[in-house]
Amino acid sequence: MSIVEKAAEKLKALQQLGLQASPPVESESPHPTPAIERLQERVRSGDQGGETESPPWHIDHMALKRAGLLAVDEKANDRLADEVRRIKRPLMRNAMGKGVEAPVNAARIMVTSAVPGEGKTFTAVNLALSLAREPDFEVLLVDGDIPKAHVTRVLGLEKHPGLMDVLVDERRHPDEVVVRTDISNLLVVPVGDRHRLTAELFGSLRMDYALEELGGRNRRRLVVFDSSPLLATSEAQVLASHMGQVVVVVAAGRTGQHLVNAALERLDNAQYVGLILNMSRLPASENHYDNYYGQYARLSQGEA
Ligand SMILES: Nc1ncnc2c1ncn2[C@@H]1O[C@H](COP(=O)(O)OP(=O)(O)OP(=O)(O)O)[C@@H](O)[C@H]1O
Ligand SMILES: [Mg+2]
Repeated sequence: MSIVEKAAEKLKALQQLGLQASPPVESESPHPTPAIERLQERVRSGDQGGETESPPWHIDHMALKRAGLLAVDEKANDRLADEVRRIKRPLMRNAMGKGVEAPVNAARIMVTSAVPGEGKTFTAVNLALSLAREPDFEVLLVDGDIPKAHVTRVLGLEKHPGLMDVLVDERRHPDEVVVRTDISNLLVVPVGDRHRLTAELFGSLRMDYALEELGGRNRRRLVVFDSSPLLATSEAQVLASHMGQVVVVVAAGRTGQHLVNAALERLDNAQYVGLILNMSRLPASENHYDNYYGQYARLSQGEA
């Protein structure tokens, strides 16, 4: 069965579980308290060493909340934390080589979607924060959405050199663009200076080298990429071809099956594909944020 056929079946099954589309989050009350809030206790300053000697970059929780990328109240945050745990477990198992499959480059995890606004950045950020709490891992969150640079902007890293600078300037070592943050085990790579030939740069040998350097030398490091939508840019597909694992976020009740199928067609080279039905909730739910992540389904190539 092709990956697209599998996707069609999985989506149908997920939707039959009784999940209903919820109204867009923007129309709801703001955001719950994030998994990140409790990460405060892990925050350290200045004792982490690493790629640069500059002080760790402060992660502004309020800015993330204002951008709708973190939960704002404790209850919703707890639920979200649980949901993200469900999503991260299979990814971690694969990365550790303990999964059913052993994808090549399993430590590279890209979060994408078919069309804009399905929750990629929200998922990438919360996944990265959740993974950073794992004692066995270090997480590098890469802003791979070059046109929007959402992560870069929200974290206030617009002026910091980033991925694009490494790709265009061979003298620049990838470590130079890694930003160590004041959250233990969380590093960030911003976009850097944008370039109009993003797809070509993502497909270059220099990109192979950059990815090797960013993740390959540290076996504990997971590299999580936020990205642009697969159907909106060509570079998202090129980026996916470097990944061991791809998480496709689908906005429930909003993104048509044909669009999801078209997006999945672009992931031919991806090793492991997971599907998240986002922005859904159980019918009886009292709280909009209940079960926001409807279900997580595995669509990897090897699955029967
Ligand atoms: N699981 C979720 N729980 C709560 N809010 C969410 C969730 N997913 C998405 N949102 C909300 O939806 C908004 C859009 O999500 P996000 O910015 O992550 O989408 P995107 O796919 O990255 O969009 P773009 O294609 O424009 O980059 C976010 O600001 C966030 O408030
Ligand atoms: Mg985004």
